[in-house]
Amino acid sequence: MRTLTTISELKQWREEQRAEGNTVGFVPTMGYLHEGHAELIRQAADSCGSVIVSVFVNPTQFGPGEDFESYPRDLGSDRRVAEAAGAAALFCPSVDEMYPADSGIRITPGPLACRLCGASRPGHFDGVLQVVLKLTNLVQPDTIFFGMKDAQQLAIIESFFRDYLIPTAICRVPTVRESDGLAKSSRNVNLTPAERDEAPAIQRALQHGLSLYRQGKSREVIEAEIAGLLTELTSGTVDYVSLLSYPDLSEPRAEEPELILACAVQFSKARLIDNLIFQKEG
Ligand code: PAF
Repeated sequence: MRTLTTISELKQWREEQRAEGNTVGFVPTMGYLHEGHAELIRQAADSCGSVIVSVFVNPTQFGPGEDFESYPRDLGSDRRVAEAAGAAALFCPSVDEMYPADSGIRITPGPLACRLCGASRPGHFDGVLQVVLKLTNLVQPDTIFFGMKDAQQLAIIESFFRDYLIPTAICRVPTVRESDGLAKSSRNVNLTPAERDEAPAIQRALQHGLSLYRQGKSREVIEAEIAGLLTELTSGTVDYVSLLSYPDLSEPRAEEPELILACAVQFSKARLIDNLIFQKEG
């Protein structure tokens, strides 16, 4: 596996793939790779001629007081995980390489970013779109791979690519979980041992919400029950619990076949998100 740190190295690698006739799969990450990332890379390797993984903790998607500094980093381990999962190249640029100058032009994601994580992390999805567009323009992948744990991010990027005719296919990859149901996340390492024991309650609470939905309970009851369970079973602070249409993230509407039940819980040093996406009844 090749490790690339500059844009010119990346462009050179991309040219080589073109010359060899390889389709390119791209897995953008912020590093501290785990089994969820490995699954993205494996799926990319199964369907593309060569796979490139980016490892870049993007400062523009972190707000003031968020965990940019404490976001876990381990490039040595990232190299091993990426290579074992089938990546041909790892792109790990510096902040200066990615953001050499700032003209002040921004991409604003609009209403899709007003709910769920966007409501409590203003500007977060502007930063995500900024870096995803830059990386996509550099890598020029045939297909880009995203995990469904970040379902709002995925919905926003899908709309962005569609609206702006970005010629890269997007592959949705299901969330990978620990054996106790906790969604794999780089941020799990920042949980205290006691919080790690509590955290699987997030997925259990969402599953309970789904069973209430299947029993015909109202949206308000479902959201309140889940929030109550999370407050009772964890020491974290519930940021939101929401039942919405997916992927348009609007109030559940008759014509949308899929729903998302999503929540975020703030622990002492880690903010965890999780969701269930399911077909509407009837
Ligand atoms: O999902 C992530 O890890 C990040 O938001 C992404 C897509 C790599 C952009 O920094």
